[in-house]
Amino acid sequence: MRNLPYYEVIAPFYDTIVPRDVKGICDSVEEILKGYTCKKEILDLGCGTGRFAIELAKRGYRMTGLDITDEMLEVAQRNARKEDVKVRFIKGDIRNFQLKKKIGIVWARGSIGDLLNLNDVKMAFKNVKNNLLKKGIFVFDVRNYSDFLKTYKNGYHHETRNVKKKNSVYGFNFVVKINKESKIAHIQGDVTVKGRKTFETHEVNHMTRSYTEKQIVTLLCDARFEILQILPGYMHEQGMKHGARIVAIAQR
Ligand SMILES: C[S@@+](CC[C@H](N)C(=O)[O-])C[C@H]1O[C@@H](n2cnc3c(N)ncnc32)[C@H](O)[C@@H]1O
Repeated sequence: MRNLPYYEVIAPFYDTIVPRDVKGICDSVEEILKGYTCKKEILDLGCGTGRFAIELAKRGYRMTGLDITDEMLEVAQRNARKEDVKVRFIKGDIRNFQLKKKIGIVWARGSIGDLLNLNDVKMAFKNVKNNLLKKGIFVFDVRNYSDFLKTYKNGYHHETRNVKKKNSVYGFNFVVKINKESKIAHIQGDVTVKGRKTFETHEVNHMTRSYTEKQIVTLLCDARFEILQILPGYMHEQGMKHGARIVAIAQR
């Protein structure tokens, strides 16, 4: 049994356990960006395994992926090589990264929620602003607190499932508990990987923060962003039409 920080443990199975409609979400992002004149150049903040950066690079965007977790970046680099797609991956922290050249679009999917402390979020927003060109666009999503409560009734949820992929069976066993005061979800459990001759168990211990729309508006106003739109989730994300996330679009 290993007990390492969540993304280090989960990196090799991340795309299997957190499946997403990558193409659908990228369609949404492109639709959002259509309304604004910006260069086809995006910083994917908290890029993880690079799945979105790779898809957007295929669509002609010049992509940079930034992440703090070496293990996620290694998978991202491998995925880009496999697909023969050019993405610049860099290691950095959302709260204090500094690009060599300011950029027109910063997009953060699923990574702002990993900042548990509101001061960290404030630092991150300020930093994003500093790295954006004038009139640059910041698009990000966070978990919607009210939807969290609807999905995880009474602030508690237990999930088990098995996924078969190639020669392995992945078993997921999680308990999610929501702290109603901080709006932080605590995910605890394990992932088992059963290969032909192997059996591994990895402990999972992770926290993610959810928000109300009002909180997001306040945070963006405090950072002096101009709020362009607040959407109830990505339009093209299958099965997520009813606001599992809040998507915010802001301008420097
Ligand atoms: C939920 S995953 C999302 C990954 C990817 N955007 C996706 O949607 O597939 C969050 C990612 O944010 C990264 N992350 C968390 N905190 C970070 C920080 N302070 N700076 C940079 N990356 C961070 C994690 O390493 C992880 O890869």
